[in-house]
Amino acid sequence: MGSQKANLPPHVLIFPLPIQGHVNSMLRLAELLCLAGLDVTYIVSDFCHNRLLKHTNVSSRFARYPGFSFQPISDGLPDDHPRAGKGFVDIMPAIKMVTGPLFKRMMIEKSCFASSGIRRPVTCIIADGVLSFAGDFAEENGIALIYFRTVSACSFWACFCIPQVIEAGEIPLKGHGMDLAVKSVPGMENILRRRDLPGFYRVNDLDDTTFQIIKTETQQTPRAQAVILNTFEDLEGPILSHIRKHMPRLYTIGPNHFHLTARLGAKATETETLISSASLWEEDRSCLDWLDSQPPKSVIYVSFGSITVVRREQLLEFWYGLVNSGQRFLWVVRPDSIMGEAGGGKIPAELETATKARGYMVGWAPQLEVLNHPSVGGFLTHGGWNSTLESMAAGVPMLCWPYFADQTINSRFVSEIWKIGLDMKDTCDRVIIQKMVAELMHVRKDEFLRRADAMAKLARKAVTQGGTSYDNLDSLVEFIKSTII
Ligand code: UDX
Repeated sequence: MGSQKANLPPHVLIFPLPIQGHVNSMLRLAELLCLAGLDVTYIVSDFCHNRLLKHTNVSSRFARYPGFSFQPISDGLPDDHPRAGKGFVDIMPAIKMVTGPLFKRMMIEKSCFASSGIRRPVTCIIADGVLSFAGDFAEENGIALIYFRTVSACSFWACFCIPQVIEAGEIPLKGHGMDLAVKSVPGMENILRRRDLPGFYRVNDLDDTTFQIIKTETQQTPRAQAVILNTFEDLEGPILSHIRKHMPRLYTIGPNHFHLTARLGAKATETETLISSASLWEEDRSCLDWLDSQPPKSVIYVSFGSITVVRREQLLEFWYGLVNSGQRFLWVVRPDSIMGEAGGGKIPAELETATKARGYMVGWAPQLEVLNHPSVGGFLTHGGWNSTLESMAAGVPMLCWPYFADQTINSRFVSEIWKIGLDMKDTCDRVIIQKMVAELMHVRKDEFLRRADAMAKLARKAVTQGGTSYDNLDSLVEFIKSTII
């Protein structure tokens, strides 16, 4: 075994938080590492694993990588638990209490997923940055540890600075002070108002459980030997310099989905890459036929990601706003996205009738293909980091309606720093929606399209050979190889 083992590649364990935006992003990383010849075990909740198998082509897709395997694990919640909306707050505590101990037992019982003579035991753990128990296991067992933060650098940095923000008395937020400037996050002194801080900051009590978890998990990031961010240097360079003072081995390798397309190169067509989604819901591809019959850049795509839940009144405000804007729209309304309508999310009859004129509604869309469709000219989004990057890479301007978490700061950067769209946070009013849709799609259309196109070019440059993300991924692979004892 000795000399035989010396020829085996490193074996990386990838462990995302089991929610859509994290599962997507880290599965793309898994594929990038498989392409580089590494063995990968991807550990993911039963809940997500079952959905991936049901709704995507992941099994056939990953069959081409003999060194890849899925390893399901419980997320500690019953199958019928509503993981979206308010249900989201149960995920982290359940993972800590149930999944953490299960993970340790599984690693030991399965001897860290070694296959005798075929695969090494895990040599490196790449854990979602909010799963500190995976970091504990790595340290206790002398395994290399890398954290992957699936959020933007600006959001990660603002969360890393929580102690300074508390010290400066800028939180807890008081309702009336939301427009006051935040001065205690280095590099963002002239950018942030209190309402732009990551949504986790919106607590009255600093002992709030979710706030404390985010604070503790973020503070422990520098213990890892390296950190990976799904971003690129031209996008977030100044903020990355601040982070590097604390975490010098920082690899920016994004946008991940774009990077995968670039790396697959001759091995796959762009369409093949686009349709290889990691959706946890069934994609309704009929919307692509509908888009085919619409004029170029005429449609605003509307989707609020995988966790956002709206009240029926809010749904109606959006509907009136969209219909009154006169704009064609493609709208994703997830079955579980309307509050108080468990398992249903039935669209009101009046909405269905009116959208027929110039709208199309689906429960889940093939988002990458939609954003890259020539008929799409704008994206009304919650500003989740994957959606933001996917829109940027497709050169599609955004109107952001952030719901929580990193979305509140992403939307600020979209409008004030990158200037590729508008921020509609903290309001849900049909008149404002109508006005801002018109601003994005008509009044300032050319200006936004020009900037979005320039940003898409920078993103492409980053993931092309010689680009920063491309080179950083090569360096990351070399680093992973160097950690084999
Ligand atoms: C979560 C948080 O909400 C987000 O703020 C954080 O940045 C990542 O984790 P989520 O709500 O799922 O993410 O949003 P986002 O990051 O945008 O990811 C959604 C993913 O689902 C995207 O990759 C998008 O392409 C995909 N999607 C969404 C579809 O494929 N079809 C849809 O109809 C909607």
